[in-house]
Amino acid sequence: MAQYQSSIIGNLFQELLDYFQKKAPFLNGRDQHGNLVEFSVNNKMVEALSFDVSGITIRAAMGDITDYTGDAIVNAANTMLVAAAGGVCGCIFRASDFDTLNKACEELGACPTGEACVTPSFGMPATWIVHAVGPVWKGGFSNEATLLENTYKNALSQAHLVGARSIAFPAISTGTYGYPLKEATRIAINAIAEYASSNPNHFTKIEIVCFDDDTLQMYVAGITERFIKNPEGSVLVEYPNETFTLSA
Ligand code: APR
Repeated sequence: MAQYQSSIIGNLFQELLDYFQKKAPFLNGRDQHGNLVEFSVNNKMVEALSFDVSGITIRAAMGDITDYTGDAIVNAANTMLVAAAGGVCGCIFRASDFDTLNKACEELGACPTGEACVTPSFGMPATWIVHAVGPVWKGGFSNEATLLENTYKNALSQAHLVGARSIAFPAISTGTYGYPLKEATRIAINAIAEYASSNPNHFTKIEIVCFDDDTLQMYVAGITERFIKNPEGSVLVEYPNETFTLSA
C-alpha cells in the first residue's frame, strides 16, 4: 500500500500538500459517520481515491488487474497483439489460458496505436479483455497525447459494445512504452472523465488499477488537482480504516 516514505513519493506528496495549503479554506471533509473533519493527507496512507462523473464512479486504487472481478480489464497491448514477457500484458497472458488467448489475438490480427479490440478473458475473473494499444513515448513530438487519449476512449467504447458495465485500466504506456507518468495520468483522468460525461449510461464504475505506489500517488495528485480546479462534485479518499469525502 502507498506509504509516503520514498523521496520520489515525498516530492509528489509535497505537490499535493501545496495544493491543499493554497486551497485549504475551500475544502472540508466528512468522515464515514458524516462528521465534519479537517482534511489532512499528512502522514497518512491513501488506499484509494474516487470521484463521480454523471453518476459513474471513477476510482484509482492499488492492485493487480488480473484479480479484477468486474466485467472487463484493459490490456496495455502492442499493435501485433502478441504476448509479452513482462508488464501488464505478460501478467494477463499468464493469468489467462495462454494458448487460447494467443489464438484469439492471432485471429484479430493487429490493432493500430490508439485503438482497441476485445477478446474473452479465458479464465480470469473479469469476462472480457480489452486490448488497447497506447503510444510509445517519442519525446512528445509524435502526437502521443492525442493517441493516448484515444486509447482510453476507444477502450471504453469497445467495452461498451460487448455490454461491459464496469472496467479496469492499467496506467497505459507508462511502463515499457515510457510515457512520462505525470502527463499520462492527467490524460487518463481527463479522457475517462470526458467519456463518462458524454456517455453517462455506459458504465457504473471505471477503475484505474495502480501497480506501484508512484502511480497511485500520481492519481491522488491528479484527481485532487482536477477536483480543485473543477469542484463540481466530491472526492472520496479511502484510508485503511476511514474514509473522507472532500467537498468544495
Ligand atoms: N496490474 C496492473 N498494472 C500492471 C500490472 C498488473 N498486473 N503489471 C504491470 N502493470 C503496470 C506497470 O507497472 C505500468 O504502470 O502497467 C503499467 C503499464 O506498463 P506496461 O505493461 O509496460 O505497458 P505499456 O507501457 O503500455 O507498454 C506496452 O509492453 O508488455 C508490453 O505487449 C506490451 O508491447 C506492449 C508494451
